Amino acid sequence: MHVGTTAERPGSSYLLVNLTAAVSPAGRGAPLRGGDLSRLEVHEPAAIAVVEGRIAAVGAPDDVKQGHADLAAVDCRRRVAVPGLIDCHTHPAFGGDRAAEFDLRAQGADYEQIHASGGGILSTVEATRGLGQSGLERAVRRHLGWMAACGTTTAECKSGYGLNHEAELASLRAAAGASGDPIETSPTFLGAHAVPPEFADADAYLDMLIADVLPEAAGLAEAADVFVERGAFTADQAGRYLRAAMQHGLAARMHGDQFSEMGAMELAIELGARSVDHLEATGTEGVRRLAGSEVAGVLLPVAALQLRRPMPPARALIDAGAIVALATDFNPGSAFCHSLPVVMSLACTQMGMSAVEALAACTVNAAWVLGRSDRLGRLAPGYDADIALVDAPDWRFLAYHLAGADVTGVIKRGRWL
Ligand code: NIG
Ligand code: FE
Repeated sequence: MHVGTTAERPGSSYLLVNLTAAVSPAGRGAPLRGGDLSRLEVHEPAAIAVVEGRIAAVGAPDDVKQGHADLAAVDCRRRVAVPGLIDCHTHPAFGGDRAAEFDLRAQGADYEQIHASGGGILSTVEATRGLGQSGLERAVRRHLGWMAACGTTTAECKSGYGLNHEAELASLRAAAGASGDPIETSPTFLGAHAVPPEFADADAYLDMLIADVLPEAAGLAEAADVFVERGAFTADQAGRYLRAAMQHGLAARMHGDQFSEMGAMELAIELGARSVDHLEATGTEGVRRLAGSEVAGVLLPVAALQLRRPMPPARALIDAGAIVALATDFNPGSAFCHSLPVVMSLACTQMGMSAVEALAACTVNAAWVLGRSDRLGRLAPGYDADIALVDAPDWRFLAYHLAGADVTGVIKRGRWL
């Protein structure tokens, strides 16, 4: 057996050896709820056989080597393997930045007031429209590269800073076109993120979106999303837009309960949406409702942190049996953070989640939100070889080492990034 180094960047079939451990959410089902979020499968030490971009075997080194003696071995230098992380809520298609707004908020300015006075999301819309197709492609690729460096191998990518026919479709083309280079993307049409300045009325804007943008957006996106909030869209408006999107074959998602409970939760359940995301303002009744449904709650602790909002009720949701996923919400305004390890850290220190729950929430359950849990989110035979290598004695350094750079190897479908 020839033992190479990771520097050799092997092809899509090889044996990962000298792993301190391989760690993965246990079982095969998805989504995970309640106590199942805490079940971890650990092989210590471990080897992983990768054959044509898929995991063929994971387990004790001797067992794995025996079945795959023909494969070249790659020395992982005592790192720990976890599933490639999955970011199921991101906004990477934008131009410009909001550093000045961040500083104003640091000095007490209010996010919703900035938005109401034409700043916030709408200032990013102006910068995004100015980028054009190639500028948007560059922006998306740059942002995906940041995510990949932190262990993310699949990212949902929302439009939503174009808010017209041309820039919304350019955002979705940039998201779809970037897939596989370096990481996999899942584009989401968020045309209903805010009402652009050229429309006085939210309903007139939605009419335009549904008639002029949705038919083409549906050919590029996998889901549609809408911001249900005062100053954005009501639940009735969101229902109209999402029903139209579902008729075009898109899955429904929603930004809801970020600042106020406006009926997003009820609508998500009624429509059979994939998820309702944020939930900083969700009360006891909302927790109970979500737990009794097939809709995932996607929790975005960086947005709560950066806007100084209460953290979403993660513990109550998990204990009640809700489907919970975690994501960065990477965007230039409310959550300028591309790192899922940072999100896992906040989940543990600010939301009462255990490290194992945090890992499951941004692997298996995030894969489920993106409709990919049959092949993503676990280190197990038959799954895609999407792997993050953690250069630490314990995989929990991912969450424990706040903003640490412990992910030092990332593999997507067998390909080293
Ligand atoms: O998920 N809440 C709405 N949308 C984004 C933030 C958008 C922005 O501030 O640019 C979010 O937090
Ligand atoms: Fe968001």
